[in-house]
Amino acid sequence: MTGAAGNSPSGTPVDTPDYDIGRSARCPLDPAPAMRARQAEGPLTRVRLWDGTLAWLVTGWEEHRAVLSDQRVSVDPFQPGAPKLSPGEVETIDRLKKQGKRSTGTSFIMMDDPEHARLRRMVTSAFTIKRVEAMRPPTQRITDDLIDKMLDGPKPTDLVEAFALPVPSLVISNLLGVPYDDHDFFQSNSKTIINRNSTAEQRMGARQRLSEYLDGLLAEKLVHPAEDLLSGLAERIKGGELSREEATEMGVLMLFAGHETTANMITLGTLALLHHPDQLTLLRDAEDPKAIALAVDELLRYLTITHGGLRRAAREDIEIAGQVIRAGEGIITVNETANRDPLVFPDPDRLDLTRDARRHVTFGYGIHQCLGQPLARMELQVAYPALLRRIPTLALAADLGEIPFKHDGFVYGAYELPVTW
Ligand code: HEM
Repeated sequence: MTGAAGNSPSGTPVDTPDYDIGRSARCPLDPAPAMRARQAEGPLTRVRLWDGTLAWLVTGWEEHRAVLSDQRVSVDPFQPGAPKLSPGEVETIDRLKKQGKRSTGTSFIMMDDPEHARLRRMVTSAFTIKRVEAMRPPTQRITDDLIDKMLDGPKPTDLVEAFALPVPSLVISNLLGVPYDDHDFFQSNSKTIINRNSTAEQRMGARQRLSEYLDGLLAEKLVHPAEDLLSGLAERIKGGELSREEATEMGVLMLFAGHETTANMITLGTLALLHHPDQLTLLRDAEDPKAIALAVDELLRYLTITHGGLRRAAREDIEIAGQVIRAGEGIITVNETANRDPLVFPDPDRLDLTRDARRHVTFGYGIHQCLGQPLARMELQVAYPALLRRIPTLALAADLGEIPFKHDGFVYGAYELPVTW
């Protein structure tokens, strides 16, 4: 296939390649071979989605940032042309439309400005560097306790269950004011929301359950406020700045965005380090917090767990890389190829914890750039060194081929990671 055929402005050229984000079994930590092939054709090409519709695929770093910072693109899945990745997603939107809804119930991550900015502004103060730094000592304690338990328990053990998932789940529960005892409930429903293959029934059911749960918690905080983010939202409800439904949806967003992502980073980061023993030693022995911070950003770049692409629709005609994206056309802009763009990251396929990778786009870019990134970075800066130092003999207890990777999620990761020491 050639880029030229794929770039025709309209119609459906027969040779447009399929949108395929399957990573290879041999290199499960590298971008999908098909995504790399598109990148080799140019920073902007066309792909055919599962239902035969076409979308623009953005694979270059510069073009990725140009799209994500352009106010003429929309993140709203109700917009004409917004790419849908499964029948379940199409049906979800159809059903919501029939119910007269104009939002998916996942709050501002799926909204355009000015609504997006109005809601986001209400929670930014919880994620300032200062507030996040105050959470570092408790995060260290959570991490150490979990490692103590791991060391006291049987081996081999599953790192996801014992460590990678509880660290961010405990941290976000404390921040929001959600009882951690309910973690099985909120973790399993979050998994359903971020699974590409979930049916409309499953997806809407999971959202509904989480909404009812958060709404119940908000009701409690309205009467008995505490020092947590949900209580802050309850205050705003009282002050008339926020409706109860909006607050519930924000709670759902932060709960699911705040643990699955970081958990997958802890899991895959550990796996990547075990496969690069020289880099593992570097991080384990690093004493300078700046060196640890750089190492974490390089792992974020290299692994790009937010894979497969951020989805947008053009509201007006936009020119990117010499091509015109027409109003109403769908765009998928791919983090993992942008993060391996050789024009920005020399020798991009090498994991090099000493490089300055801070220009990576794993947290997105533009107005929707991850709100929780200071928190995620802090958690990772605590979790990797603690794990590597306290368990210096940590080793994989399975072959790479046996590890169940999350090929079906909007977020890449592993369902299990058997380790021993
Ligand atoms: C390593 C961990 C994480 C990664 C890789 C990650 C990645 C991302 C990405 C790529 C986006 C942008 C989506 C888009 O543009 O469509 C995003 C948005 C968001 N993330 Fe994260 N995230 C992580 C951790 C967190 C944490 C810990 C929180 C805590 C609550 C969080 C909360 C959010 C929220 C609220 C948004 C929506 C921002 C907006 O629309 O303005 N994330 N994240």
